[in-house]
Amino acid sequence: MSAHPLPSAESLDAFRSEGDINLSAQRRAWSAEHINAATQARLDEDAAHFLHQSLSTPCLNVLKHVEGAYIQDTEGRHYLDFHGNCAHQVGFANPKVIAAIKKQLDELCFCPRRYTCEPAIQLATRLGELAPGDLNRVSFAPGGTTVIGMALKFARVATGRFKFVSLWDSFHGASLDAISIGGEAAFRQGIGPLLPGCEHVPPPEPMRCPFRCGKVCNLTCADYLEYVLE
Ligand SMILES: Cc1ncc(COP(=O)(O)O)c(C=O)c1O
Repeated sequence: MSAHPLPSAESLDAFRSEGDINLSAQRRAWSAEHINAATQARLDEDAAHFLHQSLSTPCLNVLKHVEGAYIQDTEGRHYLDFHGNCAHQVGFANPKVIAAIKKQLDELCFCPRRYTCEPAIQLATRLGELAPGDLNRVSFAPGGTTVIGMALKFARVATGRFKFVSLWDSFHGASLDAISIGGEAAFRQGIGPLLPGCEHVPPPEPMRCPFRCGKVCNLTCADYLEYVLE
């Protein structure tokens, strides 16, 4: 397979505020100053063996260790991680989490849904207790994108309808169903027909409001949502 040509730095520069990618002159200057030859060799190796991933690659740096709120690169620098990907509120390498995972791997590392097991029932029960109202039954999924796909199907089955309203600029994952309700051009452009019935409305964001409401939201976006629903 021939390598997928990378988009030009200029065309990607517009997406600097999104995802982890940054192909600006500032990033090139940072890399020239901070990435040594050994690290660059690892980054080149990564680029040679992985498909390009929108808004993530080429990778910025090579990590060696994560702990608490910090990530550490192979050159020994520590960075305070302000992102955490919404999944690390308990801190990286949390000893309680690691001990529980190791214990579970030793005792029962796999349980297809045709069977059940004590820890799964405990977790489902606890989640049901935490969820509001009569939301007391769960379905597990391996990641956020899959959850979105499942939610779309549940909603269709539960309502007998198939249309969705979501926000432009939103991110719900990169699969075909998730980008259909997602609102980011970077994921939707050039991919062909998406799921039918997905309507979009602008997010209530006064600084970039397409209705030009000024610095304070005047709820024209809410009127527009009503219009789309009608
Ligand atoms: C709001 C939102 N929805 C869905 C996803 C997709 O989750 P995952 O990467 O686990 O598939 C993300 C991931 O960043 C997200 O931020």
